[in-house]
Amino acid sequence: MEFYEVINKRRCIRQFEDKKIPQEVLERILNAGLKAPSSNHQRQWELVVITDKNRIKELAKIIKPYPCRITDPKTPQQEMFKIAYPRQRSMIEESACVILPYFKQKYAFNSPTNSYGLMDYGATWALVENILLAATAEGLGSVVHIPVKKEPEEIKEFIKSPDNYYLPTLIMLGYASKNAEIPTQVKASVENKVHFEKW
Ligand SMILES: Cc1cc2nc3c(=O)[nH]c(=O)nc-3n(C[C@H](O)[C@H](O)[C@H](O)COP(=O)(O)O)c2cc1C
Repeated sequence: MEFYEVINKRRCIRQFEDKKIPQEVLERILNAGLKAPSSNHQRQWELVVITDKNRIKELAKIIKPYPCRITDPKTPQQEMFKIAYPRQRSMIEESACVILPYFKQKYAFNSPTNSYGLMDYGATWALVENILLAATAEGLGSVVHIPVKKEPEEIKEFIKSPDNYYLPTLIMLGYASKNAEIPTQVKASVENKVHFEKW
């Protein structure tokens, strides 16, 4: 797929078909993630990849679907809430693969003397975006879920990850359901978001 087609096609998908991802496809996507830029060239990432359906379903039990009272959405954000909130668990259960991108947390996020913690966090999101785009190029759907409340601790226990590793997000991949619901995308382009030379 041509690069800008990939950029334009990538959308968050929260409904997946029950279909496995071939190993070579998955490895191309993971390698694309690992090509991302990183602060101080650290590449302090470790990826945990779960493709066993039973393990995926066990992991999904940790994530609680959010309640959503919106029945008649008026904005793209409300459309997204209506689609996304109730699917936070099912989008994991239905996915063919969950990728957990950890980074080694050498510095606290709130360290007053530096912002290196945030740099490592940012580098992990560069990796995440590469994965989302590579998945799109491979004809897959993708979505992320940020662990909240007790989820980080429970996921840590489930994965048995070491103490000094931080998990910014879960990434789910799979073949999109034919009727997967997608909200209207908020308009962001050169016309309404870019200021040339000065604000
Ligand atoms: C930092 C970040 C956190 C996000 N957290 C979640 C999440 O927890 N659950 C979810 O379903 N989508 C999550 N999303 C996806 C957004 O809802 C999605 O990108 C947005 O609605 C725009 O839709 P699009 O990606 O299809 O353009 C997150 C995206 C980002 C960049």
